[in-house]
Amino acid sequence: MKIGIIGGTGPQGLGIAKRLAIAGEDVIVGSRKEEKALTVVGEANEEIKEHNPKELVGMANEDAAAAADVLILTVPLQAQSATLKTIKENAKGKVLLDATVPLETAIGGPVSNPLHINPGSAAERAAKILKDADVKVVAAFNNISNSHLANIPDPIECDCLICGDDKEAKEIASDIIEKIPGLRSIDIGPLNKAHLIESITPLLIGMNIKFKSHYGGFRITGIDFE
Ligand SMILES: NC(=O)c1ccc[n+]([C@@H]2O[C@H](COP(=O)([O-])OP(=O)(O)OC[C@H]3O[C@@H](n4cnc5c(N)ncnc54)[C@H](OP(=O)(O)O)[C@@H]3O)[C@@H](O)[C@H]2O)c1
Repeated sequence: MKIGIIGGTGPQGLGIAKRLAIAGEDVIVGSRKEEKALTVVGEANEEIKEHNPKELVGMANEDAAAAADVLILTVPLQAQSATLKTIKENAKGKVLLDATVPLETAIGGPVSNPLHINPGSAAERAAKILKDADVKVVAAFNNISNSHLANIPDPIECDCLICGDDKEAKEIASDIIEKIPGLRSIDIGPLNKAHLIESITPLLIGMNIKFKSHYGGFRITGIDFE
């Protein structure tokens, strides 16, 4: 299975890409510019080579969407709509994990405040944009910090909440998430729950700022998920 990270040149996408490559997955890092993707993967492959990864491959976002079986979207909210429109044709029928978090930074506000959007979450917005391409959207990776992802090879002792309307797509998402040591995927229900997942991120960011950390994450306790 090939995994394509759309907008994978930023800290979130590249962090996920490196972790999955170390886990032995075939990962394509996408960018608006193929040249940038190639430069970024060249540096990343050099950085992680001691961990015996599969080599990351760089491509333009549209080509990454065509070549991959499963997509992960890691762009800022402001870029979400435009980026999805560029890959829509090549993403037809595929599963897309959306890590987008609506933050007030998009309108010049504080990073620790959620931005209320319509529809109620970035993941539902993605599903709406991609509706006629039959893309199965799963909200995922929204609560995992790039600092944790970059802390290779340490396990990330966090839960990764996911939601979506397609059972098989959520199983695929969970399989991918749990390739990263320490991460546990928890399916909290349909896509209309995504606003709950996305709003945890500004809470964690606020705590990071208050307590001078970069590693805020969480674990759900008291529930047996087996
Ligand atoms: N950083 C975290 O710790 C974290 C944690 C959880 C969730 N998230 C979410 O994950 C997403 C990515 O986070 P990030 O910190 O990696 O973001 P980022 O560095 O700001 O952007 C990621 C990539 O998106 C593309 N991009 C940026 N601005 C764009 C624009 N105006 N139009 C089109 N493409 C643009 C760029 O790729 P190219 O220039 O190569 O095209 C960039 O490298 C965000 O939605 C964020 O809320 C982040």
